[in-house]
Amino acid sequence: MSIELSHAEREALGRAALDFALEYFRTQSTLPIYPSVGSADLTSRLARSLPVEPQDMQAVLKEFGEVAANGRHNGHPRMFGYVQSAASFPGVVADFLASALNQNVTSWRSAPAATTIEHQVIDWLKEMVGFDPNGGGILLSGGSFANFAAIATAMRASTDVDLNRAGVAALPGRPRIYASAMTHMSIAKAASMLGVGKDAIVALPVDGDFRMDARALAAQIEGDRAEGHHAICVVATAGDVNTGAIDPLAAIADVCAEAGVWLHIDGAYGALAAQSPQVGGAMAAIGRADSLTLDPHKWLYAPLDAGCLLVRDPSALRRAFTEGADYIDVVTDREMSDFAYWDHSPELSRRFRALKIWFILKIHGARAIRDAIDRNIAVAHHLARVVQESTDFELLAPAPLSIVCFRFVGSDGGGPFSGSPERIDAFNKQLMVEVQRDGDAYLSNAMIHGRFALRACIVNYRTTMADADRLLETIRRVAARMGRGV
Ligand SMILES: Cc1ncc(COP(=O)(O)O)c(C=O)c1O
Repeated sequence: MSIELSHAEREALGRAALDFALEYFRTQSTLPIYPSVGSADLTSRLARSLPVEPQDMQAVLKEFGEVAANGRHNGHPRMFGYVQSAASFPGVVADFLASALNQNVTSWRSAPAATTIEHQVIDWLKEMVGFDPNGGGILLSGGSFANFAAIATAMRASTDVDLNRAGVAALPGRPRIYASAMTHMSIAKAASMLGVGKDAIVALPVDGDFRMDARALAAQIEGDRAEGHHAICVVATAGDVNTGAIDPLAAIADVCAEAGVWLHIDGAYGALAAQSPQVGGAMAAIGRADSLTLDPHKWLYAPLDAGCLLVRDPSALRRAFTEGADYIDVVTDREMSDFAYWDHSPELSRRFRALKIWFILKIHGARAIRDAIDRNIAVAHHLARVVQESTDFELLAPAPLSIVCFRFVGSDGGGPFSGSPERIDAFNKQLMVEVQRDGDAYLSNAMIHGRFALRACIVNYRTTMADADRLLETIRRVAARMGRGV
């Protein structure tokens, strides 16, 4: 039996899918954010034996309805859980079209227009964050993979030794990667996957605002060098995932320039906020990075997945990732570009990720994106202010970007929560779970100075100040239900 559907069948399936997506976009703000379902129950509802024979399309779509209903609705305006954006509709449509085209964006030869669009999109992203216009870049699956590719690139750039051939054992000294104690876990994963090991990471101290101590960095690099260690790179963070802290990028760039060490900035979450007037100069030095991670699937409101790595010197990517093979030799004439993405990243086959960014920027415009980011930051500042002014919540960290870390401290009839720190931690932990179960809002957590914090991340163009107020009301309501009232 052929697996080519008839035009009428394609139309029926396609229209049903479009109807579903339209209805989902119309109603997702009213759904309980998280399903009240257990894993055994869900497995028994969804698990089926291999469908050997074709099934009725309507029945498949009906079953898909159950899949859709039993996920977390990340586009909900009170989804405060993670640095996870709501998908903008043009991005959703573009992903569908990218799959329909099924271009394999391995090289210009394989996908001439898609490659050209990706170059275009990389140029736009560089402009939006203030990166060197002569730099290069590539779209990847996300921030973790971009950080991995950045450290692989920095490692090759740190020595004349051909590491691709000789391996990390040939590094001229014990490797060192400098990062703050707040750095994202993807850096540790990259270090272990790249064979330098997590022990290569020097966790530098942070100040009271959770920002890397640039003086400690300078002293550490100097001391390590005297002991014969080999610096691979410094990883600074522009928007840390715990509190949104922005490391002192200019001071760190000075240290790196002075020491001749590669500066990678992990701006997976925060870099696109460089355009916001509320962030001001804190990200002005982003353009001094040798490499920068940024995630369009966070603050460009692109649907998953879309990460990006920018590099000041595009040849550095080639040095890290070029690998020849007969079957990828580009046989070309002078009219065709011999550009190949496989020389610039670990991937060979690649989907047309640039299309959703192209659609989003064309249909909304960069100004609307900047304004939406600005509104997210304003909502976070509002939430932090209300928390600070309340008697039953306590702000646990500054909120420079769009993450607010706080906890419920109750009121005990007007006075502060009288429990021990451990009891307050335990209560807030349970409170977070109960709020998630409640379904009206969704929160995650962070550890701040060893204490359990409720963490609200605002990376969603639908979230308003009223949603932030309602989050606090929900927490109060759930706390009262747990036997701890205001
Ligand atoms: C600072 C930072 N770096 C890296 C990552 C990892 O990004 P991804 O989830 O796209 O792999 C995140 C994710 O939140 C992040 O906030």
